Amino acid sequence: MLKILIIVGARPNFMKAAPICAEMRRRPDEFDVKIVHTGQHYDTAMSAGFFKDLGLPEPDHNLGVGSGTHTEQTARIMLAFEPVVISEKPDWVVVVGDVNSTVASALVASKLGVKVAHVEAGLRSFDRTMPEEINRILTDSISDMLLTTEESGNENLRHEGISPEKIKFVGNVMIDSLVQNLERAKQSDVLGGLGLGSQEFAVLTLHRPSNVDTREKLEPLVQAFNDISERLPIIFPVHPRTRAKLDEFSIDTSRLRLVEPLGYLDFLALYSQARFVMTDSGGLQEETTYLGIPCLTIRENTERPMTIEVGTNQLVKDPIGLKRAASNLLDSAAGHTPKSIPPLWDGKAAGRICDELANAS
Ligand code: UD1
Repeated sequence: MLKILIIVGARPNFMKAAPICAEMRRRPDEFDVKIVHTGQHYDTAMSAGFFKDLGLPEPDHNLGVGSGTHTEQTARIMLAFEPVVISEKPDWVVVVGDVNSTVASALVASKLGVKVAHVEAGLRSFDRTMPEEINRILTDSISDMLLTTEESGNENLRHEGISPEKIKFVGNVMIDSLVQNLERAKQSDVLGGLGLGSQEFAVLTLHRPSNVDTREKLEPLVQAFNDISERLPIIFPVHPRTRAKLDEFSIDTSRLRLVEPLGYLDFLALYSQARFVMTDSGGLQEETTYLGIPCLTIRENTERPMTIEVGTNQLVKDPIGLKRAASNLLDSAAGHTPKSIPPLWDGKAAGRICDELANAS
C-alpha cells in the first residue's frame, strides 16, 4: 500500500488532481491518498466550486496560506506543509502543474527525503520572466518521477540531463477531467443565463502578469477586444487579478460581457460552444485543442507546442495580430474542426500515472 499526498493550491490544479485521486480511491489495495490544499486560491469561485464540480473530496489538510508576494506565498506553503509531511510520512508527494504551490511543496518533500512525482513535467516556454517557468524548472530538477503530457516535455527533460528512467510519458490528465465532464456540462444553463441562445460568441480569459499588470499592456489589448466585439459578443470571466487591474487603471470594458470567474462545468459549457477562444491560460490551449475549438493565445510563446503543431491554437503577440487573427477566423467558415488529438490525450492518463507509481515503488 502506497501512502500518497497530492497537493492542490490554485485553480488549474484541481482538474489535474481530481482524476488521479479518483483513480487511487478506485484502487484502495494499492493507494492510500490524502489531499493537501495549500489555500493559494481561496475564493469559492476560484477553489471550493471546483471541488464540488469535479467531485474532489474535501482536503485532508488545508494550509490556508492565501495571497502574498511570491516569496511570502512560497515560504508560507513550505512552513505549513513541512509538519504535514513529517506527520503523514507519505511514500510519494504528487504535485501537479507549475504554480507556486507546486514548487513549494516539492521542495519540502525533497528536503525531507520523500519522493516527488511531478505531473505535467517538462513543459518549457523558455521565458524565465514567467513565474511558472521558474516553478517548472525547479520542480522538475528535484522530482523523482517526471510524468509528461507531450513529446516536447520528454525532449526538454532529456536535454536538461534528467535521467531517462525518471521520465514517464503518460499523457494529459486534464483531458481525463474534460472527457469525464463533457456530458455533465450539457446540463449547465450558463448560455441561457447569459441570454446567448443560438447566437455566436467568443470567450476571453486573461490573467498573466505580463498582460494585465501594466496599463501599457492591458489598455491596448482591451481596445482590441472592444473592436472585435463589434462582430460578436465576447464573454469575459474575469480573474480577480485582472479585475483589480481593470479597476486600478479605470479601463473601459463596457463593450465586453464581464462575468465572475465560472465553475468548471459552467466554463466548459461556455467555451465548448464558443466560435473561438482568446486566452493567455495554459490549460485552455490544451482543452480547445482536444475539442477542436480555434484558440488565439495572447502570448509571445507557449510551453505547449503540441497545441500549435496538431491543434487549433495560434500565438498572437500584440493587439494588431490579435485583431487580424480574429478577423481571419470570423471570415472563414464557422465550425469546430477537430484535428488529430495529441498522443495519450485519451482520458486515461490517471490510470497510467497510478500504474507508474505502483511499478516504481
Ligand atoms: C496563479 C498561478 C498561475 C495560474 C493562475 C490561475 C503562480 C505563480 N501562478 O496565478 O500559474 O495560471 O493561478 O488562476 O502560482 N486572488 C483572489 N482570490 C483567490 C486567489 C487570488 O482574489 O482565490 C487574487 C489576489 O488578490 C492575488 C491575485 O488574485 O493577489 C493573484 O493570485 P495568485 O495566486 O498570486 O496568482 P494568480 O495570478 O492567480
